[in-house]
Amino acid sequence: MLWQICFILLIIYYCVLRWKNRDIIKLSKQLPFTNEYRCLPFIGHAWLFIRRGKDPMDTFKLLADVAQKRNGITSFWFGNNLYTILTDPFAAEKVLKTSLEKHELMQLARPLIGNGSIFAPVFIWRPRRKVLAPTFGQKTLNNFVTVFYKQSVILVNKLQSMAEKDKFSVFNYISTYSMDSICETTMGVNINAQSNTNHPVLKAFNGFCQIYAARSVRPWLHSTAVYRWMPNYSTYLGHSQLLNNFVDKIVKTKSQEIKNGGNNNIQTGDDKKTRTFLELLIESSRDNGYTDVELREETLVMVLAGTDTSAVGASFVLLLLARYPDIQDKVLQEIEQVCGHSDNPIRAEHLPSLKYFDAVIKETLRLYPPVPIIVRKMETPTVLPSGLTLVPGIGVVINIWGMHRNPAIWGPDADEFRPERFIEDTLKHPAAYMPFSYGPRNCLGYQYAMMSMKTVLASVVRNFRILPAEDWELNSCKNKANLEVKFEVMMKHADNFQIRLKKRTNEST
Ligand code: HEM
Ligand SMILES: *[C@@H]1O[C@H](CO)[C@@H](O)[C@H](O)[C@H]1NC(C)=O
Ligand SMILES: *[C@@H]1O[C@H](CO)[C@@H](O)[C@H](O)[C@H]1NC(C)=O
Repeated sequence: MLWQICFILLIIYYCVLRWKNRDIIKLSKQLPFTNEYRCLPFIGHAWLFIRRGKDPMDTFKLLADVAQKRNGITSFWFGNNLYTILTDPFAAEKVLKTSLEKHELMQLARPLIGNGSIFAPVFIWRPRRKVLAPTFGQKTLNNFVTVFYKQSVILVNKLQSMAEKDKFSVFNYISTYSMDSICETTMGVNINAQSNTNHPVLKAFNGFCQIYAARSVRPWLHSTAVYRWMPNYSTYLGHSQLLNNFVDKIVKTKSQEIKNGGNNNIQTGDDKKTRTFLELLIESSRDNGYTDVELREETLVMVLAGTDTSAVGASFVLLLLARYPDIQDKVLQEIEQVCGHSDNPIRAEHLPSLKYFDAVIKETLRLYPPVPIIVRKMETPTVLPSGLTLVPGIGVVINIWGMHRNPAIWGPDADEFRPERFIEDTLKHPAAYMPFSYGPRNCLGYQYAMMSMKTVLASVVRNFRILPAEDWELNSCKNKANLEVKFEVMMKHADNFQIRLKKRTNEST
């Protein structure tokens, strides 16, 4: 008897749900996923993400392949939620210009950055973006190059001890460089993460990112009601607390200094007064007056958005330079021509002249976008250029990986590493290339990131010859740009960015 009642209730529940979701179900029938992978009752295609031995990145690639074969759009069910997948720039442009609300999936960082602009709801994000955007002016960024170069010299010194040795993972070296540069340009503090790899801030930041990564790929842990019972939860909060306290202190000191009109600039060596992001924020928010909490949140947004992204990007460039010695030689030649002898400091004026290098970095971010997918929430019906209407209540996954490798956009050699394509060709569509996202909510730090990566990579390349971890990688005639990747909030190299280095001093180049 009880069983029967339960069964009937379940059927009713199911019918109500289907009635409520009828528009979404209709859309899903217009956008079928491939029959090869079944849509199971209740969980839908969610099982694709828990296949044994498969990384989430394998599933994102699969979704990209299916979308590419279906004119750049498909959809899949994750439990009761429908997600459309886009690899078509025309559709993506429309979505990224009209749907600015981030999907709940991206809000797991709340304990750390609270209402910080990057994942905040639109009504909080909009005024904050207006305050944040002007702090990324060209003059400010040019002044930051002094910091990038100073930190690059420290990196090169650290790397000296790894040269002429066996393979090693370069990622921690680059990410501590990134951390030091971001902390100095954002807050004006030098935490020396490169020299002090035990620094509590560095440990808390890395710890937070690890737990965040583990949680993000376990959908059943997304609800805080569930997650708070997990052993990792208190560690998660502990790391957030430490970082919050650290930044709080700096915010208090800087606010006070500015009120007192004191000297609060980063020491750039020469007499130029370089103001940090935090100082610019305090000044530019004077009218609406940011509270210390808001200042802390926005400061942490910079650290969170700017550290690992640039480190991953720069590390992928090193992997590819190692596998393409001809391209590495061309890059070195250009650096020598523009920046002179390897003892000459790299300056802001040099960076725009590194045109080929620019193309190499862009082509790397095309094949290996550190942020391979972004997810937006549909809130109003949206008509795509194809005439199809996306309905409220669905999630939209912009599959940047799939868009960047879409042969319909990039041609039959879409999977090949060919920097020249950024010199010869014009883009088929401005949204065809979007490692930094697109539209009103795109990355504010894209120029900062390009300048920081160029400075640090140029410093490494002029001092070391970069070799792949294994010799066979150089000679295998198959596509050398097919690196194994994994998903950990960002897309990373599955083998942890291993390379070998040789000092250039003894070379005749
Ligand atoms: C290679 C390096 C970088 C990549 C690939 C990258 C990529 C991205 C992407 C894809 C988004 C949009 C995310 C979404 O729509 O869900 C974003 C947002 C953002 N990024 Fe970056 N980023 C990089 C470096 C940086 C740096 C160095 C900074 C700061 C110094 C920065 C600051 C921001 C901010 C503030 C946002 C939020 C913008 C908003 O919501 O209005 N990023 N980034
Ligand atoms: C974010 O902002 C909302 C609305 O202003 C507020 O109610 C909420 O407490 C804030 N959340 C955090 C974590 O600060
Ligand atoms: C807890 O965090 C660690 C990383 O610090 C991760 O390896 C582990 O998988 C996490 N456990 C759970 C259940 O999320």
